[in-house]
Amino acid sequence: MKKSIVQTVSLAAATLLLPNNAATASAAGPDQAGIEFFEQKIRPVLVEHCYKCHSKDSEKIKGGLRLDTRDGLLKGGDTGPALIAGDVEKSLLIKAVRYTDEDLRMPPRKSGGKLSDEQIADLEAWIRMGAPDPRASDAVIQEGPPLSDPEKVRNHWAFKLIRSNPKE
Ligand code: HEC
Repeated sequence: MKKSIVQTVSLAAATLLLPNNAATASAAGPDQAGIEFFEQKIRPVLVEHCYKCHSKDSEKIKGGLRLDTRDGLLKGGDTGPALIAGDVEKSLLIKAVRYTDEDLRMPPRKSGGKLSDEQIADLEAWIRMGAPDPRASDAVIQEGPPLSDPEKVRNHWAFKLIRSNPKE
């Protein structure tokens, strides 16, 4: 009995360590404190209060907005980006959860209603710190900048010799 508890605990510890290693491995990734803040304060709120209507598991994605990927938040829904990293006041998501705009109140009243002041403050703090978000995006992997592929450079019209008869 004791042994199985030890096993469970060490498994849990290993799972906790995994994302840390992954984040340190990529120098370009968001910083660790930001990711921890996201995992502790932001992800649970989104999962519990928003995913039902704004994720790939939703029956119908509401307002065209997905909140389960970083790209979804940045791209936004029918109205535009749901958040502007670093700019709380311009972020539609914040407007929605503050309940100040009677046309856009999230989560809707019939679905739990307004978040707690603390949850709203956490969302604001998260956006202020640049909205660090380690969630994988399942969007199509973006191509590199147009001139990063030598083959494309070679075939780009701008690098072709100018000929009076293009068929030559
Ligand atoms: C019960 C379903 C439901 C839940 C839960 C829900 N939403 Fe929505 N959301 C909608 C609907 C429906 C719309 C479309 C606009 C409308 O009808 O008000 C919408 C639209 C939005 C929009 C505007 C999208 C756009 O670009 O027009 C934002 C931002 C938003 N929701 C944020 C959230 C956040 C953040 C949460 C969680 C805190 C959340 N929503 C939870 C149903 C939901």
